[in-house]
Amino acid sequence: MTQDEMKKAAGWAALKYVERDTIVGVGTGSTVNHFIDALATIKDDIQGAVSSSEASTAKLKQLGIEVFDLNNVSEIAVYVDGADEINDRMDMIKGGGAALTREKIVAAVAKKFICIVDNTKEVSILGDFPLPVEVIPMARSYVARELVKLGGDPEYRQGVITDNGNVILDVHNMKILDPKVMETKINAIVGVVTNGLFANRGADVLLVGTPEGVKTVTS
Ligand code: A5P
Repeated sequence: MTQDEMKKAAGWAALKYVERDTIVGVGTGSTVNHFIDALATIKDDIQGAVSSSEASTAKLKQLGIEVFDLNNVSEIAVYVDGADEINDRMDMIKGGGAALTREKIVAAVAKKFICIVDNTKEVSILGDFPLPVEVIPMARSYVARELVKLGGDPEYRQGVITDNGNVILDVHNMKILDPKVMETKINAIVGVVTNGLFANRGADVLLVGTPEGVKTVTS
């Protein structure tokens, strides 16, 4: 089974968590793209979606799913998104696709976070995947120096501008032993919009595509 087939299996498995007649929170990435394909098969049973990126919005609209502005939505029952790494406490690193800030906002509103991954994303300690940090452009060098003080090795993601007009620093070589504390510390640096640690608001349900089928983990 290929990695993409495992992503697809996890994406389609998330469909059963979608509640009828609700607005669904939709993340970003190649695994979520499979979920959007699945969601399109029940589009007449849902009100629509709130999207975490311009890329997901385009795909949702192309498949005939209405996309709502989050400011006009008071409740999201379920948010479905992928991850770059997830540990057994359901803490995640996200933002490989640079959509971390909008993802974190939609996840904050949602009652339940369903994380969909293939089995290469499961880790015991977060940090092998470089941690994305979204930064206001004029603060880039300052924030990079502060991230070095936290033990990381930040690298400017050249040529990438986020949907919010900001830049990304990817922080290498960090073994993140306390994700909640590190998430809070990095977010406290002036000029940081947010970082890709989703620990203070982790996943509630994890669906892992494996060669043996989809494994379900609940928090
Ligand atoms: C997007 O910014 C990310 O948070 C994605 O959720 C993450 O990178 C997973 O992407 P894939 O599903 O493409 O692996």
